[in-house]
Amino acid sequence: MTLTPILTRNWGTERSWTLAAYQAQGGYKAAKKAFKMTPEQVMNEVKDSQLRGRGGAGFPTGLKWSFVPKDNPNPRYLVVNADESEPGTCKDIPLLMASPHTLLEGVIISAYAINAHTAFIYIRGEVVHPIRRMQQAVQEAYDAGLLGKKILGSGFDLDVIVHAGAGAYICGEETALLNSLEGRRGQPRLRPPFPAVAGLYASPTVINNVESIASVPSIIEYGKDWFAAMGTEKSKGFTIYSLSGHVKRPGQYEAPLGVTMRQLLELAGGIRDGHQLKFFTPGGSSTPILTADDLDVPLDYEGLAAKGTMLGTKAMQVFDETTSVVRTTLRWVEFYEHESCGKCTPCREGNWWLGQLLAKLEAGKGEEGDVDKLLQVVDTIAGKSFCPLAEGALACVTSAVQHFRDEFEVGYHTPAWEHLPYELSAVFTVPGKEDEQ
Ligand SMILES: Cc1cc2nc3c(=O)[nH]c(=O)nc-3n(C[C@H](O)[C@H](O)[C@H](O)COP(=O)(O)O)c2cc1C
Ligand code: SF4
Repeated sequence: MTLTPILTRNWGTERSWTLAAYQAQGGYKAAKKAFKMTPEQVMNEVKDSQLRGRGGAGFPTGLKWSFVPKDNPNPRYLVVNADESEPGTCKDIPLLMASPHTLLEGVIISAYAINAHTAFIYIRGEVVHPIRRMQQAVQEAYDAGLLGKKILGSGFDLDVIVHAGAGAYICGEETALLNSLEGRRGQPRLRPPFPAVAGLYASPTVINNVESIASVPSIIEYGKDWFAAMGTEKSKGFTIYSLSGHVKRPGQYEAPLGVTMRQLLELAGGIRDGHQLKFFTPGGSSTPILTADDLDVPLDYEGLAAKGTMLGTKAMQVFDETTSVVRTTLRWVEFYEHESCGKCTPCREGNWWLGQLLAKLEAGKGEEGDVDKLLQVVDTIAGKSFCPLAEGALACVTSAVQHFRDEFEVGYHTPAWEHLPYELSAVFTVPGKEDEQ
């Protein structure tokens, strides 16, 4: 099994984030090539490559671009979603840090394809360093004539605005992001209309994830067939998987879609010595967890759907047998409870109740029937909330109970910290307990 370093190929080079380093590796060749093509040709190349959005839902990127109406007189906008906040997910921010010009070149080509003259890069507000790095890259690009008027002598004008986000997970949901960008409260909008028709300032808007847009230059440079030759039948190309937790070498691994967890674990040096895999998230905390029985499931859209879960953001949080699943579930639910935007009652109140019940179970103060009560609360939220944040919150609860119900029932009499002492699962050394790690 080989890695496919395309997006990550220059991450290790000296000052990889500078324009000079990017151009020394052939950077902006794809943009020049794109300007020799018509916008329709660029759009068709991306469509035919079968690139699917890397932000979570896997919607075909070129198809999304083609939804922008041709007869709408309003300006068109391209918005890059760099709000990356899903627990475990760590791919867009490293890309912004290591190679902001890969994204910028993708922005130029994508904006050209949809005929947008203004693009926004909405970056998670807490990550000040990547925001500055992106701002600096944009400035370098303006200075070099890669942005602004008649870029690269093409006659195409493009302005790029780097926007610091509002510090909320929900602002990664595309319509909440648009509200936030307009200076409103970051809460999801009712659809239709979809952003392609009425998005930012009620104008046609394409919103794509960082990795989706950053994949575009290589598709233009090497062609749709090169891209589609990688991956599986319906999940084409390469992608960045983020591995964290109880693996020896956590980090970003760029591989063809369809790689298995067993292969990724081999690349990551395996589970820490003397321990075994207990469970993992295939796509961040919003995707149902899998266990050691699922090591050979292809990590693509179809393979994971067949197992009742999702590829999501391709973030594998890996936990060994020392981990209390009651605790991880509670921590995730606390995240969703905190990040619920409050717009709808089932999510706002339901996540709070899930947190209360899980805290009781964690403390060993649960009562007979509390696990069923937990699932009843899940039922009051499922399918009754306004946006997918709530469904994501439930995924970790239902899948954890499905795989490890016994462990939740231990919470009727024994605290999780006695059943599975937390210091055993810590990945750092607890002073005085080094021998137990
Ligand atoms: C609660 C929530 C948070 C999200 N956060 C992000 C995010 O941080 N980055 C992202 O690209 N997509 C995020 N999404 C998905 C976006 O709504 C949208 O589908 C995506 O940006 C589309 O880009 P793509 O087609 O390139 O994948 C989130 C969705 C939800 C429901
Ligand atoms: S499901 Fe949650 S995050 Fe989504 S709109 Fe409702 S309250 Fe807000």
